[in-house]
Amino acid sequence: MTLHNRAKFQPSGKIQFGIFFQGVNSGTIWKAPESGSQTDFESFRRIAQTAERGLFAAFFLGEGLRLREHLGRPHALDVAGRPDAQTMLAALASVTSIIGLVATQNTTYNDPADLAHRLASLDLLSGGRAAWNVVTTDNAWTGANFRRGGYLDHADRYVHAEAFVETAKRIWDSWEDGAVSSSVSADSWAVPSHVRSVHHSGQHYSVDFTPRLPRSAQYRPVLFQAGDSPAGRDFAARQADVIFSAHPKFDDAVEFRADIVARSLAAGRGANDVQIMPASEFIVAATDEEAREKKEWVRSLQIGPQQAVAYLEQFWGRELSAYDPDGPLPEIDPVVEETSETRGSGFHGAKARQLAEQWRAESKEKGLSIRQFVSSRTSRVDATFTGSYTAVADTLAEYARVGAVDGFNISPWLIPTGLDDIVNHLVPELQERGVYPTEYPGSTLRENLGLATPVRSEALESVQL
Ligand SMILES: Cc1cc2nc3c(=O)[nH]c(=O)nc-3n(C[C@H](O)[C@H](O)[C@H](O)COP(=O)(O)O)c2cc1C
Repeated sequence: MTLHNRAKFQPSGKIQFGIFFQGVNSGTIWKAPESGSQTDFESFRRIAQTAERGLFAAFFLGEGLRLREHLGRPHALDVAGRPDAQTMLAALASVTSIIGLVATQNTTYNDPADLAHRLASLDLLSGGRAAWNVVTTDNAWTGANFRRGGYLDHADRYVHAEAFVETAKRIWDSWEDGAVSSSVSADSWAVPSHVRSVHHSGQHYSVDFTPRLPRSAQYRPVLFQAGDSPAGRDFAARQADVIFSAHPKFDDAVEFRADIVARSLAAGRGANDVQIMPASEFIVAATDEEAREKKEWVRSLQIGPQQAVAYLEQFWGRELSAYDPDGPLPEIDPVVEETSETRGSGFHGAKARQLAEQWRAESKEKGLSIRQFVSSRTSRVDATFTGSYTAVADTLAEYARVGAVDGFNISPWLIPTGLDDIVNHLVPELQERGVYPTEYPGSTLRENLGLATPVRSEALESVQL
């Protein structure tokens, strides 16, 4: 590719799908006869295999390192806990053969040498299918779990994350090509001169060791990133292969793409080097009318009366159980000035009182009850594609045509059958439009996403990051 082409964004004209198995969330319906277990391996197996049948690029797990709490108690109204991502993905690797396996893992509480080794292990054992969704985890209450506590400011978290990711990349690049002898008559299994040590000495940690594994079929794990501030976006533009974004709506997605392209170019990378897959929810059916009815059913089970009140309590910082979920928003003010985010992956940050005033005004103007307001408010509302298979396929084809996104990371609202209608009906519609793969293009995640082989990190002299 010429320099000129690398500087100009070119839509691929394709859409990829990933499945985002949320684990902790209010979007997954657990109070319906159709709902399966949120923790049995069988649920994960069933949905991962369906995704693979639908040629999904990746199976994606979020992460929360502390049970979600609410006014000092475990918050058990929604789906509350989840098995460890790497354990789950290792098990899924053995019942799938080609779908990518993405583990969300934070840089704030892990150690780079340890995490890089575990991800390299998953990558090797799965035949080059592993990815790491890099998060910094923004809430101090998670920090209370750990020896270090909630020890980093927002800005510092990205400084730390960058040093962490750079170190991980050096670890994955430390065994050169041919580091494992190809002959059984060789003197030793590994060729010592082809194995380099990694030294890092920095503000937050020091590492001095020799990595333990050769590289995988896809060279090293694919890097996803989730974090939306300017610092987070710059970090992604420098380091990531794919952004798990919070911008699925068309205009917003186009704007986000332009922003990431500009940041990638500023970071010295190509305009197409960073892919974008927003979080999304699909409520699809044979006709628009059926899809609308389905949506009402889905929403009524996602946001029940208790969930609606509990949602407000998070921002009011106080018990609101005396309020009627079918009545207006509380007139009393929040007790906290800053919102106390109890949802595990918060990025709200608004002042609570100001927010309460805005919400009261908005719900009054639109005549919405607590329950209706909360239902209209939750983040997935923006991220939902509702309609007939053909109408939604047309919409997605438009995203592909302009290159608004590279794909969608779909959160199923029903486990484990929540992808069936998408795979059976939406995928064929997209294939007919020529915007969705008809077979996996390769065998590694990197190949299937259409990502270039990464350039090996610089030789491992002592680096100060
Ligand atoms: C779409 C999206 C998904 C996220 N998922 C997780 C997650 O699964 N686990 C987690 O600990 N943090 C998650 N985060 C939080 C980020 O890692 C980050 O800590 C937070 O967004 C604050 O950084 P920011 O100000 O750059 O957005 C997510 C953020 C975004 C935008």
